[in-house]
Amino acid sequence: MKRVAIAGSSGSIGTQTIDVVLAEPDAYKVTALAVASASDVIIEQARRLSPDVVVVTNEEARRRVEVALPGVQVTGTLTDVVDVADVVINGVVGFAGLSVTLETLRKGRTLGLANKESLIAAGPIVQPLRATPGAQLVPVDSEHCALHQCLRSSMRPHTEVSRLVLTASGGPFRGRSAESLVGVTVQEALAHPTWKMGPKITIDSSTLMNKGLEVIEAHELYGTSYDNIDVVVHPQSVVHSMVEFTDGSTIAQLSMPDMRLPIGYALGYPDRIATPFGKIDWTTLARLDFEPPNREVFPCLDLAYEAGRRGGTAPAALSGANEVIVEAFLSGAIVWTDIARLLTRVLDRFSHTIPHTVDDVLDADTQGRRLAQEELAQ
Ligand SMILES: NC(=O)c1ccc[n+]([C@@H]2O[C@H](COP(=O)([O-])OP(=O)(O)OC[C@H]3O[C@@H](n4cnc5c(N)ncnc54)[C@H](OP(=O)(O)O)[C@@H]3O)[C@@H](O)[C@H]2O)c1
Repeated sequence: MKRVAIAGSSGSIGTQTIDVVLAEPDAYKVTALAVASASDVIIEQARRLSPDVVVVTNEEARRRVEVALPGVQVTGTLTDVVDVADVVINGVVGFAGLSVTLETLRKGRTLGLANKESLIAAGPIVQPLRATPGAQLVPVDSEHCALHQCLRSSMRPHTEVSRLVLTASGGPFRGRSAESLVGVTVQEALAHPTWKMGPKITIDSSTLMNKGLEVIEAHELYGTSYDNIDVVVHPQSVVHSMVEFTDGSTIAQLSMPDMRLPIGYALGYPDRIATPFGKIDWTTLARLDFEPPNREVFPCLDLAYEAGRRGGTAPAALSGANEVIVEAFLSGAIVWTDIARLLTRVLDRFSHTIPHTVDDVLDADTQGRRLAQEELAQ
């Protein structure tokens, strides 16, 4: 029986992780749950799943949960989920997930990483921890899970792989002109055509920043140079990514869009779970289309490439600034086209350095957020 901790249990990844665990109750048991402030959700989940530890980082919400769950260990420290688990699914959104990533690897556990921001911002700090005995990082992002599966087909990935190709659905604004995007509403940007996700990543998908961040994530996970990571738009989201090999072969991973598959892959790794999610019905799958991304209409993609190529603290600053600017868009303070415009200015103004400690990464994140606030204030 594998013990599973879910950080971010009230979110899209968190609730789908519970679905997967409940599909195989003899193989998996939830031992820890964590949220920021969603007290009603975590109380209901805890009553249903009987975890050993419940974490609520918001103090006021935590007091409500303590009263509702007498006899359960309720704490305010996110990393408390790690000790009671064999596998930790990190489904926290944003930079807040970093502590879970670091602690899980430090303790030599399996990390199912959905929280891409922590790897993107703190790659140089996270990388050495992957060598901790027992530690495993299994990506939960569907694209990186696909790459992970394709790379397993190679005995010598370091010499045989020529290119990683990430697929992108193109988001709700695929095919639109720059002019037509000036007045789009928050609701339109949140209407993702193939995936149902939390608001931050959904807006990132509409700007292609999500794909850009995933390029950085792929570089960090697999050590592939930026020149050998490409993006192709594939609106059906059935091919989740591909690996091209030196002999011209391309191996792809296909399934219908369903995040429970990559979550189950991380829970089961190195074995596969027995429950199918996203199985393809070949009698109804009519077509698979591919097209290049429009880099002029979606400049966030190349902003992320640029931050990745600069390296050091540049991805942390970009990621922090992006969180602030997306929040401003969601609250109606700016229009959609401002997102890329303001992020370009932040990246122009930011001078990157090489981070040696978590504090260096935190500083870069803070600086990125501050520059974003300054740009917003103008
Ligand atoms: N959703 C997807 O299909 C998908 C796919 C690939 C990758 N991802 C990545 O997975 C991560 C989660 O995405 P999501 O769509 O599941 O987000 P979401 O639905 O917005 O859920 C976010 C979760 O994080 C928790 N959280 C936020 N700040 C926290 C803090 N300081 N301490 C503890 N918990 C905190 C939230 O708790 P409260 O509810 O209390 O705020 C919630 O449980 C993101 O990094 C995203 O990029 C998601």
